[in-house]
Amino acid sequence: MRTLREIAALRETLDDCRRRGQRIALVPTMGNLHAGHLALVESARRHADVVVATIFVNPMQFGPNEDLAAYPRTLAEDQQKLEGAGCDLLFAPATASVYPRGHEAQTRVSVPGISQGLCGGSRPGHFDGVATIVSMLFNLVQPQVACFGEKDYQQLAVIRQLVADLHFPVEIVGVPIVRADDGLALSSRNGYLDPGQRATAPRLYQTLGELRQALEAGAPVDTTLETGLARLREAGFGPDYLELRAPDLGPVTMATREAVLLAAARLGPTRLIDNLTLTLPR
Ligand code: PAF
Repeated sequence: MRTLREIAALRETLDDCRRRGQRIALVPTMGNLHAGHLALVESARRHADVVVATIFVNPMQFGPNEDLAAYPRTLAEDQQKLEGAGCDLLFAPATASVYPRGHEAQTRVSVPGISQGLCGGSRPGHFDGVATIVSMLFNLVQPQVACFGEKDYQQLAVIRQLVADLHFPVEIVGVPIVRADDGLALSSRNGYLDPGQRATAPRLYQTLGELRQALEAGAPVDTTLETGLARLREAGFGPDYLELRAPDLGPVTMATREAVLLAAARLGPTRLIDNLTLTLPR
């Protein structure tokens, strides 16, 4: 696997691949890779001849009081993991190459509607940062396919909307959540949890599972969500939101059958997110 730092070298290398008629898959990441990221690479491998992963801790998607400085940077370990998973090319640019005028001064991409509420409610501007860097990576890599994790359910929906609205010729593949044995969804931010918080963290997934069971058995949505919030608080979480939405993140109506339960909750300073799909009874 080659690691490239410069945009010009990336373009030159991928132009060669395209001249050879190779199909390119993109796996954008912020590094500190775990099995969830490697599942993205494996999925990309099945869809293309050349797998390009990117590692870039994107300052534009972090709020002023968020963990940009603390976000773990583990390039050497990440390179080994990517190589082992069958990645062909890693693009790991410096911030100054991506945002030469600084990210505040930079053109932004905003996807209205779908970016509002849920994580967009508690992290204002976050999805503008995501949509901007993903658009930039689509321009630089020009992949036929790009893989994103379903743990970031709203992010995936924002990216699908972005691709539709800007007519990017990229197929978006959603890859199922990878969980630890106790059910906790893998995330780079799990590394912030102290041992006590790590023992509590799977309660988020367990609570979603209990709520899914209740909703699938016909329990009323409002009271079930209130019970869920109370259980999360009792377990020691500070919930940001717990919501039931239609799969496209629209509101649940009488006609909705397939739905998604989404939660974000803080354990100490660490913000965890998770989701579960479910089928409401007729
Ligand atoms: O999901 C992530 O790791 C990031 O939001 C992404 C898609 C790589 C954009 O920075």
